[in-house]
Amino acid sequence: TLSTLVPPHVAWQTGALKNGPVIRKTTDIAALAGVFADTKSWQRCEPGQAVYDVDVLQTETCEGALFTGVTHVHPGRVGDEFFMTRGHFHARREQGEVYFGLRGCGLLLLQNERGEARVEIVTAGSVHIIPGYTAHRLINTGGEILSALAVWPTVAGHDYATLSDGFSVRIKTDGTGWRAEASHD
Ligand code: PA5
Ligand code: NI
Repeated sequence: TLSTLVPPHVAWQTGALKNGPVIRKTTDIAALAGVFADTKSWQRCEPGQAVYDVDVLQTETCEGALFTGVTHVHPGRVGDEFFMTRGHFHARREQGEVYFGLRGCGLLLLQNERGEARVEIVTAGSVHIIPGYTAHRLINTGGEILSALAVWPTVAGHDYATLSDGFSVRIKTDGTGWRAEASHD
C-alpha cells in the first residue's frame, strides 16, 4: 500500500516549523564578540539579549541530503549597526544555498572570495539564490522580526574563520533606512 506521510510544515506568516523534529539554536549578544564594529556599544548591550534564532529540521546528513531551516533575526542595533547573523562561507566552498524571505525586511549580504560585496533586499516572498564560493549574512534593517527560510546541502558545513575579521561592508542606520559603509578592520 502507498504510505502517506504528513510532511513538516512552515507557517509562511511566522516561519514557525511544525510536524518535524526541530532543533533551535539561539545566538545572543554575548556570543557575538567581535562581530559588531562598535565594541563599546556591544559591551553596553544585555549579554543574554537574543540576536537571532535558527530552527533546523533534523535530517539525515549525507552527500545529496538537504537541511531546511528558518532564521529569525530580531530587530535591534549595536550602536548604528543592525542586528545580523555572524555570516559564513560554506566549508565546502562550491556548495550553494537558497533563502526565501518570509516576514519583516532586511538584507542578504553576499561576498565573494575576492572580498567583493553586494546586497539583496529580503522581504516576504523574496527568493535568493546563493551561489557557491559566496559568503552570506542576514541583516534585519526593519523594526519587526526578520524571518527567512533556507535550504542547503548537509555536506556544505560552515566556515566562520575565514571572515572572522568581518565582511567588507557594514550595514548601519541612516536615521530612517540603511546605508552601507566600507569596513576599516
Ligand atoms: O545555512 C545558513 O546559511 C543559515 O541557516 C545560517 O546558518 C543561519 O542564518 C545562521 O547564520 P550563521 O550560521 O552565520 O550564524
Ligand atoms: Ni549557509
